[in-house]
Amino acid sequence: MGFQETIEIKTVEKRVRCYTMGTTVKLPMSSGFGETDRIDRWWTQPLWMGVALTAALVYTVLRLVFFDSQIHYENHRVTSPIFSPDIIHLWNLDVPNWANSAMLILWIPFGFRGTCYYMRKVYYRTFFASPSACMVAEPKISKKIGYRGERGLFFFNHLHRYMLYLALIILTMKYFDILHTMQFYSPNGQTSIGLSIGTIVLTIEAFLLTMYVTSCHAFRHLIGGGANRWRGSLGKFQGKMYEIVSGFNIHHGFWFWTSLAMVFLGDLFVWGVAEGVLSDPRIF
Ligand code: FES
Repeated sequence: MGFQETIEIKTVEKRVRCYTMGTTVKLPMSSGFGETDRIDRWWTQPLWMGVALTAALVYTVLRLVFFDSQIHYENHRVTSPIFSPDIIHLWNLDVPNWANSAMLILWIPFGFRGTCYYMRKVYYRTFFASPSACMVAEPKISKKIGYRGERGLFFFNHLHRYMLYLALIILTMKYFDILHTMQFYSPNGQTSIGLSIGTIVLTIEAFLLTMYVTSCHAFRHLIGGGANRWRGSLGKFQGKMYEIVSGFNIHHGFWFWTSLAMVFLGDLFVWGVAEGVLSDPRIF
């Protein structure tokens, strides 16, 4: 046969065999959960992603319900990313004692991340094992129930572009939070402009969130003018923007995880300073 390659695909006992240059590769099409011919540690990625998402969810619930007394500190106002934008304080809202800003606004970042195209891949792999990884068989139950598209509860995935519009508002307000951190109040009531570690922490968080939002597939469509073809000088500009955002989009998963991690690291920092465990020295 020399270098000539023959690929023959046969279905035998619900499996597909590929014959490539004398090598037989069995593709598990419908076998037991986790059955595969892969010899690498394919399960580590879905495992760690599942652990990370579960930890994020549990931490958020605990912080919202049981540990929400310290969400900022006051000599210059640095607000925890989880509770930001702190709309109750910003707009002087009259709410019950048990309510906090995160309870009012978290549905937006949750809705945005929950309907994210990358996030869908993550939760299909981690929580539904449908499939857990490439060339790894699904559990029989997944086969039985089967993927029926974005229907039922998954219908909300269609709302991703609308969640993007709301997420853009939240993102803009994050930059107002950074400005707040730069306003220092002295005991005699005077204010001055400065910068502290808290400002840097919130700036990093806002930057990572900006990269996550601007690398979004729906944002790319929006910035590209929602068109398939670009005409005229405006079209040229939109085409260029589409190209730039496509560059960000390649690393969308990276921006997803780093921005998510920074929300929690930022919260721990603010919580630590508010409790007196950490300090936030003024840099100038
Ligand atoms: Fe991930 Fe839009 S596709 S945020």
